[in-house]
Amino acid sequence: MKKTLLATAFIVTTFVFAFAASDGAALYNKCKACHGADGTKVPAGAEEALKGQSAADIEKMLTGYKDGSFGGEKKATMQRMTANLSPEDIKALADYISKF
Ligand code: HEC
Repeated sequence: MKKTLLATAFIVTTFVFAFAASDGAALYNKCKACHGADGTKVPAGAEEALKGQSAADIEKMLTGYKDGSFGGEKKATMQRMTANLSPEDIKALADYISKF
């Protein structure tokens, strides 16, 4: 009985962690239309492609859009895009994008 309980607790914990983890690839689906599937598209108003930029820079920019401290003329678009991202989501996205 004790073993079954432990096994159940283990399985539940594994599932909770699997779903709570931020998935960069899944999160990036929302960005593809403007930035391209591989980050090479430069949306109107943006200056640079995402491809080739470092995870640290991307994380800084996304955090800046979210808190309003970064952005150019079209930053309202990116403020909307980052409003609901958690710091973990931003990290996962930055990591994913830096590998294009
Ligand atoms: C509707 C189009 C659109 C979507 C969707 C979009 N972006 Fe953007 N993105 C832009 C525009 C326009 C800019 C330039 C904004 C400015 O003026 O600062 C930009 C800028 C950026 C920058 C800064 C690039 C640089 O070098 O200055 C990053 C990083 C970025 N976007 C990441 C993302 C991520 C990650 C997502 C998905 C969560 C996303 N974008 C979704 C249009 C979009």
